[in-house]
Amino acid sequence: MTDLSLPRLPGALPDKRQVAASFSRAAASYDSVAALQRAVGAHLLAQLPADLQPRCWIDLGSGTGHFSRHLQQRYPQGLGVAVDIAEGMLLHARELGGAHYHVAGDAERLPLRDGSAGLIFSSLAVQWCADLAAVLREAQRVLQPGGVLAFASLCVGTLFELRESWQAVDGLVHVNRFRPLADYQRLCADSGLQVLGLEARPHVLHYPDVRSLTHELKALGAHNLNPGRPAGLTGRARMQGLLQAYERFRQPQGLPATYQVVYAVLHKPQHQGD
Ligand SMILES: C[S@@+](CC[C@H](N)C(=O)[O-])C[C@H]1O[C@@H](n2cnc3c(N)ncnc32)[C@H](O)[C@@H]1O
Repeated sequence: MTDLSLPRLPGALPDKRQVAASFSRAAASYDSVAALQRAVGAHLLAQLPADLQPRCWIDLGSGTGHFSRHLQQRYPQGLGVAVDIAEGMLLHARELGGAHYHVAGDAERLPLRDGSAGLIFSSLAVQWCADLAAVLREAQRVLQPGGVLAFASLCVGTLFELRESWQAVDGLVHVNRFRPLADYQRLCADSGLQVLGLEARPHVLHYPDVRSLTHELKALGAHNLNPGRPAGLTGRARMQGLLQAYERFRQPQGLPATYQVVYAVLHKPQHQGD
């Protein structure tokens, strides 16, 4: 995830091959640690317009296909396409069913025809895209008039406890970076799609210790992939410093990890200019 609160530097963009490889490696472990992802996707499903009946739906950044299976149940007459940049995820998802087609592709350059989908559903994937404007442009192109884009993503404030704790230890980039909510608002408003809803909601998870959190991020494939991240293993002294720094956030339920989740539902007007 690229820090879009900073000026865009080509050298500071996350490498998509690394993102794909990291998620492909995580395909087998992902479902066992995806409690937040389940809650977020379920909330996003609940935001879909009740009268929507897409003939073709797309699960964009489908991962293991958990929500493809929900979409298939909800729209049994619809044709489902799961799209993901990580082939390992698609192979895993295909075994479990849900979508009719599993397509390797990038949300910023969808390998899909213009006007071919009634719904693009995307839960916790586009935070990995450096160019959200391109994602929205592609959604606008691929949606048919009257179609809906519903996405959940992460914004600034996500994992702030971990970021601040590392900051206290060595000042290096240990946590993926997130775009400010205002950027989501501006880019959605400028997308040519109508914004039916856009809000940010915090989800806070609790862990007994820091290692449980960092192991979970790794099992999800969501650990830090930013350029500028420290290379190699974390030394014992630095790890000790991290554990100590994180303790100041401890609550009765454990160590908190905050996720600031953006939920957006957009609609492609029937006629341009509506
Ligand atoms: C956190 S997982 C979410 C998976 C699923 N939507 C869920 O909620 O369980 C993020 C997924 O987005 C995919 N992804 C990341 N960048 C992508 C891109 N540019 N285009 C398509 N998929 C991408 C990853 O490979 C991964 O499978």
